[in-house]
Amino acid sequence: MTEPMLEAAQTLEEVREVLGDCKRCPLHVARGKLVFGYGDPDADLMFVGEGPGRAEDAQGLPFVGPAGKVLDEMLAGIGMDRSQVYIANVVKCRPPGNRDPLPLEIETCNPFLAAQIRIIKPRIVCELGRIAAGVMMGWPLQMTKVHGTRVDGPGYFNVPVFHPAAALRTPSTMELLRQDFANLESYLAEGEEPPRPPEPEPEQLGLF
Ligand code: URA
Repeated sequence: MTEPMLEAAQTLEEVREVLGDCKRCPLHVARGKLVFGYGDPDADLMFVGEGPGRAEDAQGLPFVGPAGKVLDEMLAGIGMDRSQVYIANVVKCRPPGNRDPLPLEIETCNPFLAAQIRIIKPRIVCELGRIAAGVMMGWPLQMTKVHGTRVDGPGYFNVPVFHPAAALRTPSTMELLRQDFANLESYLAEGEEPPRPPEPEPEQLGLF
């Protein structure tokens, strides 16, 4: 279902307002706080995670739990902090027990993520984990093959990386994540212009 108010939104505040006290999918039933996103609305670099976990659901902010500590460390490693980027998730409410979000939940929330990207206009969208990478780049997708690479997207580059929570579980994944962030730093420094977004449909002039 398209939402004309969402399509008309020109600021993140307006997108948040349209989202409101969202009950569009079943995730609202068990959520604590809705986690809209955090950071610089003009960021060149935007992160997209999977969905809020326990700490995020309690605080209403993305990546503030253990995985968030890893993200902060990775950012510090390339001389950045979270005030210089924007962080959002594929779904804005916590899936119970941290299960993967379901297709209906992803599809329902997707227009809001798309609106955030449209307004922020990042040069690079860094997908944190396979769910975010699949949603943004399409399935099937092999993280072992694509992580740390730069892939053309509509108006930005995608750079999928392993999820920080996976890095916490497996030291070798942590090392790969560190290398992927080094790539991210190079992509940012190169300053190459991302692919142009698709042209909007020409206005119907109503002449015929
Ligand atoms: N994991 C995610 O994917 N997103 C968060 O916001 C926190 C943990």
